[in-house]
Amino acid sequence: MVRKGFTGVTNKKPREYEKRHREIARTAGCEGMVFLKNERHALPLKKDEMVALYGSGAVITRKGGTGSGDVNEREVVNIRDGLKGKGIPIASEEWLSDYEKSYKKARTDWRDAIFRREKEIEKEWEARGDVSEYFSAKESAYYEIPFVAPAGSEIIENGSGVSKAVYVISRVSGEGADRKNEKGDYELSDGERHMLQMICGCFSQVICLLNTGGIMDLGFLEEFSNIDGVVFISQAGMETGNAVADVLVGDVVPCGRLADSWPYRYGDYPFADEFVAVNGQIHKSYYKESIYVGYRYFDTFGVSVRYPFGYGLSYTKFTFSEYGVSVAKNGDGENGIEVSLHVKNVGERYAAKEVAQVYVSCPQTGRGKEFRRLCGYAKTKELKPRESQELRIWIPFYALCSFSQEKGAWILDEGAYYVWIGKNIGDLELAARLDLEQEACFGKVGRIAPLKESLEELKPDAARLSARLLWCEETVERERITVLRVRAEDVVPGTGGGVLREAGSGDDSSPSIGRAGFDLEAKAAVRKLRRDQKVRMVTGELSYSVGNIGNSAIEVPGASGQTSKAAEEQGIPSIIFADGPAGIRVNQSYEVKDGEIVPYEVWDSLENGLLSIKKEREGEIYYQYCTSIPIGTLLAQTWNEELLFELGRLVSEEMRMFGITLWLAPGMNIHRNPLCGRNFEYYSEDPFLSGKMAAAMTRGVQADGGTGVTVKHFVCNNQEENRMGTDSVISERALREIYLKGFEIAVREAGPYGVMTSYNLVNGIHVGNSMDLCTTVLRNEWGFDGLVMTDWYTTEPAPEGFAKSTKPYVCVKARNNLIMPGTAEDQKNVEAALEDGRLTEEELDACVEDVVSVIFRTARAEKMDCKRE
Ligand code: BGC
Repeated sequence: MVRKGFTGVTNKKPREYEKRHREIARTAGCEGMVFLKNERHALPLKKDEMVALYGSGAVITRKGGTGSGDVNEREVVNIRDGLKGKGIPIASEEWLSDYEKSYKKARTDWRDAIFRREKEIEKEWEARGDVSEYFSAKESAYYEIPFVAPAGSEIIENGSGVSKAVYVISRVSGEGADRKNEKGDYELSDGERHMLQMICGCFSQVICLLNTGGIMDLGFLEEFSNIDGVVFISQAGMETGNAVADVLVGDVVPCGRLADSWPYRYGDYPFADEFVAVNGQIHKSYYKESIYVGYRYFDTFGVSVRYPFGYGLSYTKFTFSEYGVSVAKNGDGENGIEVSLHVKNVGERYAAKEVAQVYVSCPQTGRGKEFRRLCGYAKTKELKPRESQELRIWIPFYALCSFSQEKGAWILDEGAYYVWIGKNIGDLELAARLDLEQEACFGKVGRIAPLKESLEELKPDAARLSARLLWCEETVERERITVLRVRAEDVVPGTGGGVLREAGSGDDSSPSIGRAGFDLEAKAAVRKLRRDQKVRMVTGELSYSVGNIGNSAIEVPGASGQTSKAAEEQGIPSIIFADGPAGIRVNQSYEVKDGEIVPYEVWDSLENGLLSIKKEREGEIYYQYCTSIPIGTLLAQTWNEELLFELGRLVSEEMRMFGITLWLAPGMNIHRNPLCGRNFEYYSEDPFLSGKMAAAMTRGVQADGGTGVTVKHFVCNNQEENRMGTDSVISERALREIYLKGFEIAVREAGPYGVMTSYNLVNGIHVGNSMDLCTTVLRNEWGFDGLVMTDWYTTEPAPEGFAKSTKPYVCVKARNNLIMPGTAEDQKNVEAALEDGRLTEEELDACVEDVVSVIFRTARAEKMDCKRE
């Protein structure tokens, strides 16, 4: 990355790109909001219709979550201002400004309490004469003091003639803490219930907007009969208020579809009581539900849900017809099936988009399976009233495989495969049956991450599943549904099954030199380095002077880290990493004095510097305005890969502007349980949808080759409590079919430059230390050819009684190339292992080569770009 001087600009005025990018963020926000309920024509609102607006998120609208997934944008448009921008008169202005005032006061009190606590910690650590752990103690102060939103004044004005009220429920969560199955979080608080009661009593129609990062209990819908509208507006970045207004008035017709099932109550999740936030067992998490996660559980076990996976309303209606299913190859000659259908907008008034979803029931032979799984989908263009479109959805046979632990292979079992088409998993029609005459094996793979203790896994009721399959059978006969015979040789492409790939066989990112060329260049460059330089190249360049966690890059204030500068003289530049996934997280502004960046606090890059002690700034101020886009879950709810590609382009443009080479995003852990504090950063409960979204985003960010993504957190980072030391006890099958699957799709389809390993252990081994995960699966099976980095400070010594932390030198052995952000202790540990033979020079070289190869690839693409300009 070519860097000139300081990043950002000294002029505060909005720049051209900001406007352009905010428009894209707003479009994405609109496309990912999901209409859950709309009765008695509650929505759309008429533009001149006065509404009463209440609730914690009306003015203090949540654009996203906290922690490293935060973005320090210029401003956030709240819902009040969004509605007013459409000309909608608001009857409750006084209540809203009261709330705003009391919120701001509560927020300042909260901040001051943190500062007081911080001072105490500082004294404690000074007295001990050891400041090394001061920063983490300080960080814990930040998490220890929960922020409680004020309930707001209780005065409800019932403006004369106002019949509709909009009530905004907001929640915020983030890194370092899980959500709670309690009032005020998963459930309504007493204050919220009380207000809803009053509002429902005062107005004839109430519309609830859910301004949350994830699922919450909607049991209150049964209590209040006049809540006629419910919209999961989620958290849509800095344009949230405008996007909400667009969809509420119908300027944009809703077309978002859920990326998670919304059950009736928390207790409906399998082993709900065993999630860490409920049972407090922080050291181990037993994945007893096996592959039955999200709709795979609800659908297979017959547990009815409030809103099914894939669900969402529109202001118009669509019909699906003319289903076609055939065995077909894709453009690359890969075998699969093609599903076609006609989608028609049968409404009279609104132009809108619709999502067609394809699910498959695989035979229950071989091993128990989920009743149905999502295998393909497509979103229409905007269809005018009466307009239709033919959609074609191609599904590789590989998507229908399941993993046999006994055989150590991906298998298509012999038997009947039912293909379903529809609008969500609760609204599907049978479209075809495929009969596979013989089992087909997609190549054997090595055994990975073996269980070290016994694990009793959930099994579905075989009789129940047989009865449902019998129903399918009868329907096929009765309705003369297409039946296709498929031979095993039609399925598996050549020998080896096309599953195992040689590392480095991915697409060439540069036409002039080719991927292999960069590897050769990297090899040659690494050969010239001294051992001490190589050791530094596998640990990031840490500067204690400018901050700590999540804030360790030296050159771009607020960026998260960078690779070592140790080999700059040999032509290997240091590249910079910044967080995501809701945009780029860097400081909104910083100070330069006497030609140097004035040291700043970690807090400057979190919540727009709310927690920073404001000092007089005497130097020159540089501004880095980044666009905050919707959170990961909302993006998945768009089911729109083109849009994610476009967002990837947006991110890439800003990365170039601020000198960032790798984006620490997208986050793609599976929504295993709704209480995971970072779910908002992740896409879905379904690995297929997650993988497709991450692949589209990756293609966008990497389109020019000069910037890249780092998909994270690989793998099973499904809780925040004790995230550095928790052990995920899981079968290989569930690991591969659910938790690795999304990463597999992203790696195979889009070739991300980076992967970030998660803090946790999987079956007793930290992921960053796992050769099985970092090398066998990632590189040998999937052909990953980028660099793997740890999550931040994962090698820091663990407190007593906790699992030992990730070992630095074992990262190198496992080919987790980079230890981030990199400390002197990490370097000493690697040196010592080289000295006593626990680590070989070849192992070190292999790691450094991967790092250098990515540096060369991005730098070369960057130079080509400059020439083009
Ligand atoms: C988070 C990562 C993040 C990193 C750098 C860690 O605490 O878990 O997601 O990328 O910090 O900020």
